[in-house]
Amino acid sequence: KQISIIGAPMDLGQSRRGVDMGPSAIRYAGVVERLESLGYTVEDCGDISIGKRERFEETSKVLKNLKAIAKACGELCKTIETEVKRERFPLVLGGDHSIAIGTLAGVSRPYKNLGVIWYDAHGDLNTAETSPSGNIHGMPLAVSLGYGDPQLTSTGGYQPKVKPENVVIIGARALDMGEREFIKEKGIRVYTMHEIDRLGMTRVMTETIEYLQERTDGVHLSLDLDGLDPNEAPGVGTPVNGGITFRESHLAMELLAESDLLTSAEFVEVNPILDIQNKTGKLAVDLMGSLFGEKLL
Ligand code: ARG
Ligand code: MN
Ligand code: MN
Ligand code: MN
Repeated sequence: KQISIIGAPMDLGQSRRGVDMGPSAIRYAGVVERLESLGYTVEDCGDISIGKRERFEETSKVLKNLKAIAKACGELCKTIETEVKRERFPLVLGGDHSIAIGTLAGVSRPYKNLGVIWYDAHGDLNTAETSPSGNIHGMPLAVSLGYGDPQLTSTGGYQPKVKPENVVIIGARALDMGEREFIKEKGIRVYTMHEIDRLGMTRVMTETIEYLQERTDGVHLSLDLDGLDPNEAPGVGTPVNGGITFRESHLAMELLAESDLLTSAEFVEVNPILDIQNKTGKLAVDLMGSLFGEKLL
């Protein structure tokens, strides 16, 4: 496997500053060296460009920084498409979760029946109508399913990117009312913290892998660091208590590595300004190690 690292220093999908430094924090934690030590050829493609913050009226209905986000996601989509054509594994470093709109637009054209693992405390299934914040990082999964502002859903020139039955959400513990209805209506598979505690991570991942293996032709992992517990991943903008542990997450990554199912991945929401000594950036790199096959013995 040859890996292409693409930085997406996006901070316009939410209101806290510093998440644009996420790609730097992950690079600083040694992502390239770590993956090279596992025997991969790694190319760091640098960062895509992100426009400026727009001035907006403080109403909950407005989609904050819509134009700049749509533009950056279009650029990310193109970069990803190029790397997939080169038969490289795209590994995207965020940036807030709104970048998933671009990543998914880029990987779902070659993979007609793409599966998505959404590892996150949140569903990110809001639209302008249901969003409590107007923050686009709470919307990328809905957008990729074809719901939301046309400027976002049209990224890459086609839609939808993903079918609801090809999505598995893992780690959910903060879902807005509209998101809960959306999940029920579309029949999206969700392993909340309840199921993780009850079934254990081994079974959650085994079921997820088997389910996606049968029905998809490629699988993207979208890992929001706030899926983990804030005690272990404090450098995130929207922390929610009671999260997935470091150990459970390593196990999940190891099972994904064994399955050899993934065709692309992204690690998002790392905010070194809110972090303690780049703990979350380092954690992201540790998880990438396991995801790409690192083993003790
Ligand atoms: N559901 C909330 C919202 O729509 C929080 C979203 C958090 N999303 C994230 N990618 N961290 O504003
Ligand atoms: Mn989240
Ligand atoms: Mn998210
Ligand atoms: Mn944890």
